[in-house]
Amino acid sequence: MALLGKAMADGLLLTLGLTLLACGARGQGNGRGMREVSGGATVYLGQDRDIWRPLIHTTVNLSEVSSIKSSFQVRTFDPEGTIFYGDTKDGEDWFVLSLRDGVPLMQISKDGMFVSVAGGPKLDDGKWHTLEVSSHGKFVILRVDGSSGLEVGMQSKRTEEVISGELRLALGGILIDKDNMIVEFQPQMDGCVREGSWLSHSVPWETEADELWPCYPNIQPGSYFPGAGFAIFNTSVFPVDTDNGVKIELAGDFSQMDGTVFSFKAPGQELTVALVVNNDTKEVTLTLGEEKISMRKTVKRLVITFQTEMLQVFQEEPKLTELKAISLTNPGVLSTWREGRLAIGSLLGDGEDNVGSHFLTGCLKKIQVQGKDLDLDSAAMRKSVSSHSCPA
Ligand SMILES: *[C@@H]1O[C@H](CO)[C@@H](O)[C@H](O)[C@H]1NC(C)=O
Ligand SMILES: *[C@@H]1O[C@H](CO)[C@@H](O)[C@H](O)[C@H]1NC(C)=O
Ligand SMILES: *[C@@H]1O[C@H](CO)[C@@H](O)[C@H](O)[C@H]1NC(C)=O
Repeated sequence: MALLGKAMADGLLLTLGLTLLACGARGQGNGRGMREVSGGATVYLGQDRDIWRPLIHTTVNLSEVSSIKSSFQVRTFDPEGTIFYGDTKDGEDWFVLSLRDGVPLMQISKDGMFVSVAGGPKLDDGKWHTLEVSSHGKFVILRVDGSSGLEVGMQSKRTEEVISGELRLALGGILIDKDNMIVEFQPQMDGCVREGSWLSHSVPWETEADELWPCYPNIQPGSYFPGAGFAIFNTSVFPVDTDNGVKIELAGDFSQMDGTVFSFKAPGQELTVALVVNNDTKEVTLTLGEEKISMRKTVKRLVITFQTEMLQVFQEEPKLTELKAISLTNPGVLSTWREGRLAIGSLLGDGEDNVGSHFLTGCLKKIQVQGKDLDLDSAAMRKSVSSHSCPA
């Protein structure tokens, strides 16, 4: 997997990039620490970076633009995230296209007016969709797969001014303060964009990333861990249910996984709870302090409940049945949960940023905590994970 070697490749590419710049070589670098990318390239928007920051961006002189129209294809299973941004007058007038609940959401600021409009078909079905954004005088129009999607008309009292200056475009993020958004949304987008045609213009785009991560040719829903990533949550966001304790449900093909599926731990406390798949012994093992429960890798679904004095494991193989219930001699599990952190895809060490090791390789089709799907985009800390898609 290209993601797998990313951490290592980063260092190498950086060195390589600096060498190229130092030698005055042309090509990737452009002398401002940026790399050039073709506007028609296939781009994976979910790459790690500051969550509001665009992955690629470009600047075009309006005087050279013949048509305010851009089209591109997008593919995602992620219902929420930033796709496309454009602005003029240094960000005074701007346009943001995102998804929310899978549906396109346009937010526009023009001549001091702010508008948001959402609607059109759901796009988070993992298929490629063609979007076209155009501006015709007072109207901004979004077309989806050749049909009309959304149309916004805005009339200002100000007299029409001649459009001039620069137009900035960005993918996967915005170039203004997020506080300008009328409708809030989760910016991270586990999705791909390709075949972009931007204002019928072929200026190159730029990226601050050393290397662009690939888009997998085919995807399926799930969360993908390439063996170097994790997502960490404060467990305080999943309150303990007084009757039922804590319930974690996982689904996926465990026979195709290796490493830590989840672990939780409270800072400064001994107890670590972890579910680990061992690809050599073909076993899935739940460890809770001294206690160990092992199951075979053929399992497809696991439901684990932690209560004050009891731990229950249900497994589906193929029917969901109770595998084991044990009385806990260590009553600290729920207090560990209340004060701790939950890591999906890695062990947790001590200290704030210590995410330990033993990363997961594989695809989790479903992760639920306390009966709710866990959105890895809402993690307190996240690295090298595809939150909503796995390679197929
Ligand atoms: C836009 O035009 C101005 C003046 O003609 C020029 O200085 C500037 O470099 C151009 N910008 C781009 C991105 O081409
Ligand atoms: C599991 O082991 C098999 C054979 O040893 C190997 O081919 C496969 O890549 C491993 N899978 C993972 C996820 O490590
Ligand atoms: C998670 O907990 C840490 C320390 O316990 C805190 O600093 C951080 O703000 C919390 N983050 C979230 C997203 O709640």
